[in-house]
Amino acid sequence: MPLTIQPTDATLGATITNVSLSSLDDASWQAIESAFYEFGVLIFPGQHLSAQAQIAFAQRFGELEILVENLKTIPVSNQDGTGALIDEDSHQMKLLMGNEGWHTDSSYMPLAAKASVLSAHVLPSAGGETQWADPRAAYDALDEDMKQKIANLNAYHSYFVSQAKIGHKVAVGAGYGFFEGEPPLRPLTKVHPVTGRTALYIGRHAGRIPGLEDDEAEALLNKLMSLTCEPPRTFKHTWQVGDVAVWDNRCVLHRACPYDHREVRVMEHTRIKGDPATESALNA
Ligand code: OGA
Ligand code: MN
Repeated sequence: MPLTIQPTDATLGATITNVSLSSLDDASWQAIESAFYEFGVLIFPGQHLSAQAQIAFAQRFGELEILVENLKTIPVSNQDGTGALIDEDSHQMKLLMGNEGWHTDSSYMPLAAKASVLSAHVLPSAGGETQWADPRAAYDALDEDMKQKIANLNAYHSYFVSQAKIGHKVAVGAGYGFFEGEPPLRPLTKVHPVTGRTALYIGRHAGRIPGLEDDEAEALLNKLMSLTCEPPRTFKHTWQVGDVAVWDNRCVLHRACPYDHREVRVMEHTRIKGDPATESALNA
């Protein structure tokens, strides 16, 4: 039986059933790949992938980004290696709290991410959903004046700056390979390398805009973010253990929803590298 694709009520996202990601035939993979381009985010309920199977699925989208030395896939978790809850003040907790702000993965790195795969392993009793927003539909909704205004603007994307906003001083070299030097500079709009569709390329890491005063840049980015992150351009997935999601970081934003950090939440994250031809920063 062919797989089933059920679009959400929002401008992005679809749920795919009647498929096993650990044993995909070519026809199913082709259907998934085209749905990925069309919907930006795909949810696959009840997959229960092993780490190896998640890596293999993610590798269908391209080469993996190594976030922690030697690891192709990493836990996004508020437990430490021994199973104890991590401290509210720890670097790892600040990183998780950062994930609760709208972002696109690795925009603060010289090479931004193509896609990410996330699966649910342990869930809190409430909250902890993941939400996605649609900067493609937001761009389409802009008036011509705004499209003109942003056409030639670029923003610096900095993890140091975005984390500082939530009171986290990031050490150089800490976490996911943060690097020293000028933050990546990226255009405010991005033409998707496959679909050709234009999307806003924004998120919490975007800050200073050359040519604008800092308060003007902040007001502009806030305005674009508000427009993007409101219905019908958002949808939220309430996870069940075993669900898998994949999203296109080149044209969607995402965030974790808050939950009580005294309850355990364990997700598994695998990130796919961008193409240097289209995901490199202007100053990389
Ligand atoms: C991520 C991320 C959100 C979540 O893994 O990149 O932002 O819901 N996760 O855990
Ligand atoms: Mn993320």
